[in-house]
Amino acid sequence: MIDVVAQYRLEIQIEDDIVIVRRKARQLAQARKLDPFATAAITTAVSELTRNVLVHAGGGSVVLEEISDGERYGVRATFEDHGPGIANLELALAGGHSTSKTMGLGLSGSKRLADRFEVKTEKGVGTTVRIEKWQGL
Ligand SMILES: Nc1ncnc2c1ncn2[C@@H]1O[C@H](COP(=O)(O)OP(=O)(O)O)[C@@H](O)[C@H]1O
Ligand SMILES: [Mg+2]
Repeated sequence: MIDVVAQYRLEIQIEDDIVIVRRKARQLAQARKLDPFATAAITTAVSELTRNVLVHAGGGSVVLEEISDGERYGVRATFEDHGPGIANLELALAGGHSTSKTMGLGLSGSKRLADRFEVKTEKGVGTTVRIEKWQGL
């Protein structure tokens, strides 16, 4: 069972929101005593996924949560947009495939950096990406 200790919902509409979301994620990771590597990992992943919402879906939102399993704390980020959906999820997750002219490493990199990673996407409906990062044991 995972408890949600605190929850913050942030809109992702303009470039400046990337900085705001990134800063909030780092703040929560530090508050919940994730180690510096885990803090950097969640901060980087959140930053990439926020950018994806903005660039590929034209905006959306993220819910940042402090979570606990009773022994450890973690940070969870759930991104939601109503953009076009990810056309080829398998390719997008493999890495190095971008429909814009960027690196195509945001999604695959975020998956690698997270302890848990989930994506749901539907063409013409939108995309939800959820990641978790936990304190070390
Ligand atoms: N929220 C999203 N909505 C629609 N498509 C997305 C979204 N996030 C990622 N994608 C698709 O997945 C591809 C890979 O994403 P990513 O690895 O972050 O690379 P990049 O952003 O550099 O293109 C993107 O090029 C885009 O086609
Ligand atoms: Mg990207």
